[in-house]
Amino acid sequence: MDSLERRRVQSAFDRAALRYDQWSELQQRVARDLATTLEPGAAAGGWVLDAGCGTGDALPWLARHAQERLVALDFAPAMLQAARRRQPGVAAVCADLHALPFCAGRFDLVWTSLTLQWCRLAPALGECARVLTPAGRLYATTLGPATLGELRTAFAAVDTHPRVRSFSAAAEVSAALDVCGLLPLRFETRIYTLYRPSLRAVLDDIKGIGANVSAARPAPLSRAAWRAVEAQYERLRTAQGLPTSYEVLQVVAARAPSGRS
Ligand SMILES: C[S@@+](CC[C@H](N)C(=O)[O-])C[C@H]1O[C@@H](n2cnc3c(N)ncnc32)[C@H](O)[C@@H]1O
Repeated sequence: MDSLERRRVQSAFDRAALRYDQWSELQQRVARDLATTLEPGAAAGGWVLDAGCGTGDALPWLARHAQERLVALDFAPAMLQAARRRQPGVAAVCADLHALPFCAGRFDLVWTSLTLQWCRLAPALGECARVLTPAGRLYATTLGPATLGELRTAFAAVDTHPRVRSFSAAAEVSAALDVCGLLPLRFETRIYTLYRPSLRAVLDDIKGIGANVSAARPAPLSRAAWRAVEAQYERLRTAQGLPTSYEVLQVVAARAPSGRS
């Protein structure tokens, strides 16, 4: 991701902050499932970082692990403001996950849910590893390549432009963990499926959270092309509505004993 794309992503999330909670059903489900994997005493009352905290949905649970020692970080200022409103007293830091403004070994637990897919994997995971204590734990989720597969296929009916972001495969995430000196203690892939009444509603979910930034910025579609995309997607309709799949990679990792990071 170049710096222009980074700024576009940052401002899309910034603009979405006020309405984010209405649209973040997937993000909330994923975070709750990750929270069930938190070991009791995971942070042992030590310091906890939520990297890419968004509006701070996870902060109340993390606060229980961290007591007063909780840091919420995001590069979108409006997201951080919402996080502060949700968890008054949290230390809120506006910064980029690729360059965490903390010294090495500062956190006992680093939590990052559905943010790494917006980052360059190895540099971002490298930063998470760097700020972990030697016995610290990383709890992370990110998206895999099957994510939004139905939408990708529907767009492919009209042209070959990549209109849907691509996501790293489990093998790439594994390799990045390894490069960063992180040892996976848990590595699971889960498919989450949301059902929506229309293509418009599928797209609203993505736009609602500010995730409607594509790397390629293809030309807008004509009305006829939109109708073709809709017709293609309609073929997948079930009794519950139009399905949208999200492949979620859930990772719990520790620093590898060799401490290469
Ligand atoms: C999809 S939201 C997830 C938010 C929250 N973790 C949740 O589960 O609801 C992604 C968040 O990551 C933030 N983000 C994306 N890239 C980032 C980066 N490089 N540095 C810091 N924050 C970033 C966005 O501003 C946004 O708030």
